[in-house]
Amino acid sequence: MNKNFAKWYDFFMNPLEKGKFKTIRAELLGDANGKVLEIGSGTGVNFPLYEKAQAVHAIEPNLAMIEKSILKKKHARVPIEIHNAGAERLPFDTNSFDSVVATLVFCTIPNVDEALNEIKRVCKPGGSILFFEHVKLENPVLSKLQDWLTPTWKSLCDGCCLNRNLEQLLKSHRMEITETKEYYKGLFVLCKVTNHDKTEMFIKGD
Ligand SMILES: C[S@@+](CC[C@H](N)C(=O)[O-])C[C@H]1O[C@@H](n2cnc3c(N)ncnc32)[C@H](O)[C@@H]1O
Repeated sequence: MNKNFAKWYDFFMNPLEKGKFKTIRAELLGDANGKVLEIGSGTGVNFPLYEKAQAVHAIEPNLAMIEKSILKKKHARVPIEIHNAGAERLPFDTNSFDSVVATLVFCTIPNVDEALNEIKRVCKPGGSILFFEHVKLENPVLSKLQDWLTPTWKSLCDGCCLNRNLEQLLKSHRMEITETKEYYKGLFVLCKVTNHDKTEMFIKGD
């Protein structure tokens, strides 16, 4: 886990956050009701934006990120508890959350299949799983460019991959996408999913 990435994250993201990102995040988090799980909360950018949540449990494996998020936790309008954990092994009981939030994190999680299986496990049937992610572009030239840039980008940005295909991943887990919106010519997507009954979980590797 990279301490410098945590140190500079807000600085480099600020232009985007001050632009469209704040509105996109607010729209997504408007659907985060009841007991909420946030995956990879980073510096806590989402924390002040929760309004309807009863309580938020945030998981984050990088201690330097957790440290940076403490101030934003203080500015939150809802109770937030941060847990030092990764998405591939969630320290929560089955069916314990009404909503799960993942923003700009599926680019970085090393084992996305395990993470999705865990999310489906801890989210109640009928619960909302809410994503805002940057994804692989459809344009073949730009998509190849993303593949080419990814090894360097990954080493600079603490494991972030530019070329992950969220829609394909969710479909491979037979997750029901209820809404998608594209931003910045399809580079970023907002995606809302309804969690299915547990009989449809553990699609891969379990
Ligand atoms: C690009 S940052 C995004 C932070 C925040 N979600 C946001 O929207 O600004 C990616 C975050 O994912 C975290 N991360 C890395 N591996 C993870 C894992 N296995 N499970 C959960 N989070 C992880 C990183 O530590 C980092 O905080």
